[in-house]
Amino acid sequence: MITRRGFVGRAAAVVTAAGVKLPIWEKALPIGEDTARGSAADARSGWPLLLGADYYPDQTPENLWEEDARMIAEAGLTNVRVAEFAWGLLEPSEGKFDFAWLKRSVEILHRHGIAVILGTPSAAPPPWLSSKYAEILLVNKDGVTVQPGGRRFTCPSNQTYRRLSLNIATEMAKTFANAPGVIGWQIDNEYTLQPHARCYCKYCREGFQDWVKAKYRTLDAVNEKWGTVFWSQTYTDWRQIPVPLPSNGDPNPGLVLDYDRYQSHACASSAEEQLAMLRKQCPKHFVTTNQVGAPLDTLNLREMYRNMDFVSSDNYPGFAQVFMPALASPEVMASMIALGHDSMRCVKGGKPFLIMEEQAGKAGQSFFAPQPHPGQLRLWAFQAVAHGAMGVNYFRWDSARFGAEEYWFGMLNHDRSKSIGFDEMVRTVKEIKSLGREGLEASYVAETAVSFDHDSSWALAVQPGNSKLSYMAQLIAWYGSVASANTGTDVIHLDEDLSKYKAVFAPLQYVVSEKQAENIRNYVRNGGTLVAGFRLGVKDESSQIVNAPLPGLLRDVMGVTVKDPVPVYTERIGVKFAPRLAGADAQCALWADLLKPESAAVLATYTGAYEGDAAITMNTFGKGQAVYVGADLDATSLARVLRTVLATSGSSLTIQAPRGVEVTRRRTRDKEWVFALNHTPEDQKVSMPGKFSAVVGNGLSDGALTLRGYDLAVLEKV
Ligand code: GLA
Ligand code: ZN
Repeated sequence: MITRRGFVGRAAAVVTAAGVKLPIWEKALPIGEDTARGSAADARSGWPLLLGADYYPDQTPENLWEEDARMIAEAGLTNVRVAEFAWGLLEPSEGKFDFAWLKRSVEILHRHGIAVILGTPSAAPPPWLSSKYAEILLVNKDGVTVQPGGRRFTCPSNQTYRRLSLNIATEMAKTFANAPGVIGWQIDNEYTLQPHARCYCKYCREGFQDWVKAKYRTLDAVNEKWGTVFWSQTYTDWRQIPVPLPSNGDPNPGLVLDYDRYQSHACASSAEEQLAMLRKQCPKHFVTTNQVGAPLDTLNLREMYRNMDFVSSDNYPGFAQVFMPALASPEVMASMIALGHDSMRCVKGGKPFLIMEEQAGKAGQSFFAPQPHPGQLRLWAFQAVAHGAMGVNYFRWDSARFGAEEYWFGMLNHDRSKSIGFDEMVRTVKEIKSLGREGLEASYVAETAVSFDHDSSWALAVQPGNSKLSYMAQLIAWYGSVASANTGTDVIHLDEDLSKYKAVFAPLQYVVSEKQAENIRNYVRNGGTLVAGFRLGVKDESSQIVNAPLPGLLRDVMGVTVKDPVPVYTERIGVKFAPRLAGADAQCALWADLLKPESAAVLATYTGAYEGDAAITMNTFGKGQAVYVGADLDATSLARVLRTVLATSGSSLTIQAPRGVEVTRRRTRDKEWVFALNHTPEDQKVSMPGKFSAVVGNGLSDGALTLRGYDLAVLEKV
């Protein structure tokens, strides 16, 4: 496995040869709070540890800015993010810019030692813009034009919107390129917000047509790959190609998959325009953009972040309580949040990421989640760090008394008194700082990986097979089962390097490309363990069904064929386990792939209507193993099966922690930190074989760690 130092060395060599800007790690200052604080003054020498808040001088009377800056500094925060929604103030009318107020704010913050991340304001165009250029408005999946009045109501393809976005960002960049205290940029804000994550307007249609042309080159190729002969959809001119708006009949699956790819690309390429400009104008600054931290499938983040310095994400565990109360048990919530962090970390191959927005209090808009229990604000911030974050910004510094997010509570209350969680956040920031740059930029240790595949999710959404089948629900269940073993879990694409993992899990890998199949084949052949779920390899990259018995390209690796794929509705189908997976019979819920073993051993069979057909198989392929889980198992059985396979895969990291307690590791060449996080309200005990010294927390004694409810510890291996 490549170490951080190795990575930096190699990356430096590559980028130097290419004449490209060095990755930010090269510019990092030595560890230490004092240096960190002082450095905020001068971006040329680096930037502080990023422990800050999202701050809105645009929404705060100017006579309070000084007091804000003083309090932010007193709280031990080192940076703020500002201005990401301030387009209206920065460009009050077309081409007339006003940066004076923002300069004054930055100067005040800088005087107090607070570094500034500037947001480019494209997520909220002002009314003069949307009135004059109504063509920038997003058209939703029903063909309805989304109206201005909120935010993110824009079309990602529209050139007017992109030009004006780039324009304001450029003026801003020129103004602040050398401003003392400014250290970096956030481009836009959370691309593809739900519920209107896609645009279907005429500009997107044209953009899509051009994208399809660039991809396929000839109409014959498009017609063949999409199978347009079906329902007489053969295209004879590029401009005939539609977008998947309602059309009295399901759309063409190949077209829909490409449309998702195009929409993701439109957002990424729009960000890329701003990025290229910022690289030119502000070579000393870092550039990132923030994402909804929860796992979402709307964007291919690898494309979005390819040329950015690091990933930033927004972490609001309270949303789980509001929107998914049934799931909001401590273990499930912890695992959902962890899935978000693990996904973000892996977007740039494990590089430390930044929490650009972290829940600071009650979270919500028209209604709000309760105040986190004492300890949870600290726990959630540390959870991000435990999963590879290098910094945390609390959202937001104050609480707005007006606007759509009045009920989103910041570090200060509406009356500007300190919030109920204020002291806890101050303590947290201090404790996170104590890990130093070394700890905060250490690599995350992962021995397992779970595949999160956009193509599969997008392709399945248009034809789920069983209307209740959801890619994301399967991903969450599989991830939770695997991650709770505390082996460290990366969230990957199957065409990435798999050789470092003891076991790779691939739920609902509906689309399998030739490249992925070959990668998996090599991985298993060389000793890896692959565990795949039902509906494996049904489709190729064009969303056509493979012309071979299922699981298509992976038949040899899995050592089975699918005798019949069965959607399960009202039938009661059970699963009976062979001794190797011994356990109580399971229920099969939404899907049953009836498996016919070729070379694989049978680990479970169906009962009921499909009595005796294989439900789970294990194949030895080369030096490795490939397990096919053909049944949609109930949650408990799924966790047991995946964990049993994991236990035999040679993972060395399993620490037996009670339910709701997470254990993760971060490592440099010389040091290792172990994070233990108790997400439950009760006291918990974890036995910690080995020698450790406590960096944060004090429950360690006699080889065991006692954690109070919602408490955590960071231990360093000695
Ligand atoms: C998002 C956005 C913020 C704010 C918060 C709270 O993550 O980036 O602007 O809206 O949520 O809702
Ligand atoms: Zn559009």
